[in-house]
Amino acid sequence: MSEAELPQNAKSSGVKPSDTLSTPAVPRHVAIIMDGNGRWAAARGLPRVEGHRRGVEALRRTIRAAGEIGIKVITIFSFSSENWSRPAAEVGELMGLLRRFIRNDLAELHKSGVRVRVIGEREGLEADIGRLLIEAEELTKDNTGLTLVVAFNYGARQEIARAARRAAEAVAQGRLKPEDVTVETIGGLLDSADLPDPDLIIRTSGEQRLSNFLLWQSAYSELVFVPTNWPDFDRAVLESAIREYQQRERRFGGLTAKTGS
Ligand code: FPP
Repeated sequence: MSEAELPQNAKSSGVKPSDTLSTPAVPRHVAIIMDGNGRWAAARGLPRVEGHRRGVEALRRTIRAAGEIGIKVITIFSFSSENWSRPAAEVGELMGLLRRFIRNDLAELHKSGVRVRVIGEREGLEADIGRLLIEAEELTKDNTGLTLVVAFNYGARQEIARAARRAAEAVAQGRLKPEDVTVETIGGLLDSADLPDPDLIIRTSGEQRLSNFLLWQSAYSELVFVPTNWPDFDRAVLESAIREYQQRERRFGGLTAKTGS
């Protein structure tokens, strides 16, 4: 990522809200299901991996745009628990892209104030990938700009099951009473415990489902589905999804509209 491409919200003075979006209603947390890489490649007669490679470029554009727009947290679904069922060569390519993304972009992300967080199951990952994820989180943990949450080897049901298991262990050890296992207890045991729930979830490529992404955290998220395949995603598409979000009335189960961000 070149200097010119970096997110602008590294320092609060550097925030450059979009000219076309009203700042107060910019969602605080946007989560994205980056779908359609394979279809993008197939439509051009290219191998699927080329779609993933171009997807990394779209990711760089999106991180920069999110910072400029004033989004505080962006979560990206980069590898799901179910993606292991793809052909080994494609899994290998996706692992390689993550390695290269962290090795090539981490220093610049850090310099621009981005805080990297990773959610998902760490066990079973190749050792060097585990180390890179820890390095990215450690290096950037005190940054105060955009928080980039990388959902990697992530599945929402697995995340909820891990939280339930931790609660059960605490009960078994007498550190927690069964009646104290509440929504807050489980929420506090999720990988995302320190993060706000997403205000807006965007899925690209026209598919309309959550596919085991942030199932707990999306209870009151607004969902926007865009036809664009992920490699073509850019600031204009992001802004158009945010404008759709801004038309929605969020009531969080009540009767009156509330601002979610
Ligand atoms: C969905 O497209 C996309 C993925 C399974 C992987 C997303 C990965 C990237 C954008 C690049 C790697 C990310 C990082 C952080 C380095 P698909 O393959 O399911 O597309 P299709 O539905 O058209 O086949």
